[in-house]
Amino acid sequence: MKNYKSYFRPSIDAMSGYTPGEQPKVMDLLKLNTNENPYPPCPGVVDGLKNIDTERLRLYPDPSADKLRDTIAEVYGYKRENIIVSNGSDDMLTIAFRAFSDAHNKVAFLEPTYSLYPVLANLQSCQYIEIPLNDDFSIKDDLLEKAAPSNLLILTRPNAPTANCIAIDDMRKICSEFDGIVLIDEAYADFSADNCIDFVREFPNVIVSRTVSKSYSLAGLRLGFAIGSAEIIAGMMKVKDSYNVNMLTQYLAEIAIRDQEYLNETVAKIKASRTKLTEELKALGFKVVDSQSNFLFTSPPDGDAEKLFKFLREENIIVRYFPGKKTAKYIRITIGTEEQLERLINFLKKIF
Ligand SMILES: Cc1ncc(COP(=O)(O)O)c(C=O)c1O
Repeated sequence: MKNYKSYFRPSIDAMSGYTPGEQPKVMDLLKLNTNENPYPPCPGVVDGLKNIDTERLRLYPDPSADKLRDTIAEVYGYKRENIIVSNGSDDMLTIAFRAFSDAHNKVAFLEPTYSLYPVLANLQSCQYIEIPLNDDFSIKDDLLEKAAPSNLLILTRPNAPTANCIAIDDMRKICSEFDGIVLIDEAYADFSADNCIDFVREFPNVIVSRTVSKSYSLAGLRLGFAIGSAEIIAGMMKVKDSYNVNMLTQYLAEIAIRDQEYLNETVAKIKASRTKLTEELKALGFKVVDSQSNFLFTSPPDGDAEKLFKFLREENIIVRYFPGKKTAKYIRITIGTEEQLERLINFLKKIF
């Protein structure tokens, strides 16, 4: 437009938006780039969809999603007042940024970590502190010192895109000593050996955020949930959009969360494939970060991850590449089915 004058807030003009992983339209692609689950959702969800009463779509959904919150509370050992739900956990992050950060209240998070956090900080016009990890993606001793000027500290456990976990004792120390909210982003926690879900009972400043996108195979449904003290949850409820979780999602997520047996089965399959792929990559000379997630962060023998990313793309295999000082030598591979990973490994064997 000629003589375009921007009406945006200067911070919006200055920022770049979030770049989501590619969602290709071509179906024969091997899609290992956005950490979706390769297995279908639980059978109850499929039946639930078939039997849905469409009359219910005429009405607004329950704004506080009480039935779903009761189910989550029951399954995870809390009370309804400790649970809030959201339109995917990205929405939960937005709620947290709106609730706890502004121009005077900073946010702190790891570096590298989930690339949505700086985008949300910019939207909220709040300054952010990036806490650098060691080259092996472990935390440094000065984490608490670095985080101290912030009001909200986000610890991603397992971390993305690095796949590893901060040790549980270190988490405990950080949560007890940090003077502010610690939001533990546990999007991938069902794939890890331990988690921080019990921390909410121990620490009044802790929020644990979860999603059905990964372990429950429901990324398309959009449901996140968080657990925290009744006071914190009540405050977050004031901030959320009224109808942030639609009726279909409330109904189907409840069915999925009740089926812990199916969840455990699929998680076990993914963990077994993760071990196998890790061993195969190591045998080819790849460096592989110890993964507690449904993806691997791995560096090829020559360290040229960008070239490998492009090679794989030409073969119709999509993984994720993050340019950046600490991440440029790595690609991130989502754990797929056995057959999918075999196709990947067979191709890699030809190159390395
Ligand atoms: C660390 C982390 N947190 C949160 C999310 C958001 O997940 P969703 O909005 O699908 O629940 C992702 C998605 O990839 C993630 O990697």
